Amino acid sequence: MLIDNIGTLVTNDPELGTLHDAAILFEDGKVAWVGTKIPQGTSGKRLDAGGRAVIPGFVDSHGHLVFAGDRAEEFAARMEGRPYTAGGIKTTVAATRAASTEALRANFDRLVAEALRSGTTTVETKSGYGLTVLDERRSLELAHPLQDRTFLGAHVVPPEHTADDYVHLVKGEMLDACAPHARWIDVFCEDGAFDGEQTRAILTAGIAKGLTPRVHANQLAHGPGVQIAVELGAASADHCTHTTDADVDALANSDTVATLLPGAEFSTRAQYPDARRLIDAGVTVALAADCNPGSSYTTNIPFCIAIAVREMRMTPDEAVRAATLGGAQALRRTDIGHLAPGARADAVVLEAPSHIHLAYRPGVPLVRSVFKDGRYMG
Ligand code: NIG
Ligand code: FE
Repeated sequence: MLIDNIGTLVTNDPELGTLHDAAILFEDGKVAWVGTKIPQGTSGKRLDAGGRAVIPGFVDSHGHLVFAGDRAEEFAARMEGRPYTAGGIKTTVAATRAASTEALRANFDRLVAEALRSGTTTVETKSGYGLTVLDERRSLELAHPLQDRTFLGAHVVPPEHTADDYVHLVKGEMLDACAPHARWIDVFCEDGAFDGEQTRAILTAGIAKGLTPRVHANQLAHGPGVQIAVELGAASADHCTHTTDADVDALANSDTVATLLPGAEFSTRAQYPDARRLIDAGVTVALAADCNPGSSYTTNIPFCIAIAVREMRMTPDEAVRAATLGGAQALRRTDIGHLAPGARADAVVLEAPSHIHLAYRPGVPLVRSVFKDGRYMG
């Protein structure tokens, strides 16, 4: 499949850069060639992009897609002034435990399909609404089609446990049951969830079982999450809404990506993270949707890009890059997030001449067609 007559082609490749009047060739699910002069002898299917933009598929590196029910009433109450707290998670835990595996899988599939329609070709998902050994394992098992699954037994302490007992369970029996079904381990390090000492203990136990850490850090207030993420070599510190200069320095001198989740600040009416400060300090930034029924019930990355540009002072280039290459970096994946030869043929054709329109035309469904592994998905 050759896509030609591309108005703007964002490759995220340091050498290729952003091309105009370009073409791209997919072969066997991979990018085979990118450029402006179509090579002689190219045959097969051809798609005329009609001057539209083509970008890498979005890599949504932070999601909570295995759950039942919703919390619309909680959202409505919040919009009337009630604050957001970590405790709301327990409502979804009760609904998730009570749901059949078929119902959970149907909801998960619906959200993955919804994300795909808005250009997301890779999603990560976490457990964290089961909080028993069997319910956490079930959450990870049913998300099996995804390569990037994260064990988040440490989301909150469920009502039937004391904090000490629960941390013991998460580090022991629950981790043993879940580690074979996950690539990552995460902790919600926050007041009302887990403190620094508990976070360190749980992540260290996960590392010993072969998982790589990522951390929900500094979302609702300043805390030790970012520093622990850096100290333990986490792939990502997620949220980073309340950070000190020392946190920003630590991130800048590490391989830990700062994953910003503006859907959460939007839906909890909170201050946005200071993306400008992070980027100017040299931190690698990713943008993700944080789809979950409590704090950010959206799968829509173009929406997050628009907020990041308008409210967080990212340039359109930076925001699109953070939602593609940045997400891939946060998942330590080199096969996605860019469109150089050899990359997966995951790409989006926009109903617009350039990627800037994703922020410039907020709320407009600009995703015209999506390719995953070179296959047309709609
Ligand atoms: O990333 N912060 C922890 N987890 C989710 C919220 C979960 C919930 O409220 O159900 C988040 O924002
Ligand atoms: Fe989250």
